[in-house]
Amino acid sequence: MIDIENESKIYLQREERTKWFQEARFGMFIHWGLYSIPAAGEWIMTNRQMTVEEYKPYFAEFNPTKYNPRQWAKLAKKAGMKYAVMTAKHHDGFCLFDSAYTDYKSTNTKAGRDLIKEYIDAFRTEDIKIGLYYSLLDWHHEDYPAYGDRHHPMRNNTAFKNKIHNFDNYVKYFHNQVKELVTGYGKIDIMWFDFSYDNMTGEKWKATELVDMIRKYQPDIIIDNRLDDKKSIKKANLSPYTGDFDSPEQIIPPKGVLNENRNPVPWEACITLNNNWGYASMDKDYKSSKQVVRSLVECVSKNGNMILNVGPNAKGEIPKESVAILEEVGEWLDDNGDSIYGCKGSYLPKPEWGRYTQNGNLLYAHIYDRGIGHTNLNNLRGKIKKARLLKDCSEIKVEFPWMAEEFEADAFILLPGAILPDEKDTVVELELL
Ligand code: GLC
Repeated sequence: MIDIENESKIYLQREERTKWFQEARFGMFIHWGLYSIPAAGEWIMTNRQMTVEEYKPYFAEFNPTKYNPRQWAKLAKKAGMKYAVMTAKHHDGFCLFDSAYTDYKSTNTKAGRDLIKEYIDAFRTEDIKIGLYYSLLDWHHEDYPAYGDRHHPMRNNTAFKNKIHNFDNYVKYFHNQVKELVTGYGKIDIMWFDFSYDNMTGEKWKATELVDMIRKYQPDIIIDNRLDDKKSIKKANLSPYTGDFDSPEQIIPPKGVLNENRNPVPWEACITLNNNWGYASMDKDYKSSKQVVRSLVECVSKNGNMILNVGPNAKGEIPKESVAILEEVGEWLDDNGDSIYGCKGSYLPKPEWGRYTQNGNLLYAHIYDRGIGHTNLNNLRGKIKKARLLKDCSEIKVEFPWMAEEFEADAFILLPGAILPDEKDTVVELELL
């Protein structure tokens, strides 16, 4: 039976908590750890089925002399990103923070520091909201299931077949670490858990207890949906650990995200700039800034966010290619941010020439296709008070070409010039009556 009262209560709490998040729209994901040394992505330990011993040289070697999170934070700011999420621990189990529960942490490497603390301080200084990614999987901890676990580096190693492990110990360990993260660094805005699979989900992680603990210390924190089965967030009845937002990965859901009662669910598409999360030196398959801009618009037009990833190298530098793309995206957002921040999708269907986003009575036409002559705005006749190019507030004419009389319900605007003023996305702000 659907408990309507309970549903609306959880729903309202979630709306309240995620308000800033749904206005922020654009964030930076940072995947960084020991795997930046072999430079082939963050799954290398398991892809190559490496033992803890075989992976250890990276721990001995880790020495990010160029780590300067102030620079990262300035870049994120310049790119127009309003929040960031960084890997405090990834699947390899290495911690970038000074945990009392392990020696496998950055303070014991040549870096000699709590790198998460420095990240938090730097991003906070730039007024960027703080998120922490924490991997539920742990390929270093001896109480995490190894043999037969389909993701574990030792899944096929028969030496691990009869190894006894105490999963409760692991759960205790990771709850303790999460407690360190939510109590030791001031306000944390997002906790980003990754990920549940098979029977490793929900209460297997003691998720209710975990979420209660987190909210006790950080009542306003928002939590992703990966402590639970990823489909749970679309159900009407939510569990205490279903999470606050859906996290589609490398995909923009075609129609946004609605639950089974057709209520909108907050969501964030996580997207890489090339094809890897962690640093991958051979992967030069970068998206263009135009693609990034249009994907961000796509997310907002469907009521979602985009978190875009960077994978810093072993020295601690964000790849130059990523920096260049982010700067270009930032330039576009500097001119056109009003059509993204605080915006939602429009009630109007997707137009032929691009996309719509909307903020109250301001409707933003994102024009990708100049076409010829006037641009047709379906069903907007008599509804536009004023049209202007968002970038410089120059007036755009709302007028009817003489052959358009028969298209009674439509409005028309005339863009200056034969080609689009901005090839990435030309935004016209339509002030509605
Ligand atoms: C995946 C991967 C992981 C990455 C994450 C980001 O689930 O396991 O490496 O951190 O997606 O969304």
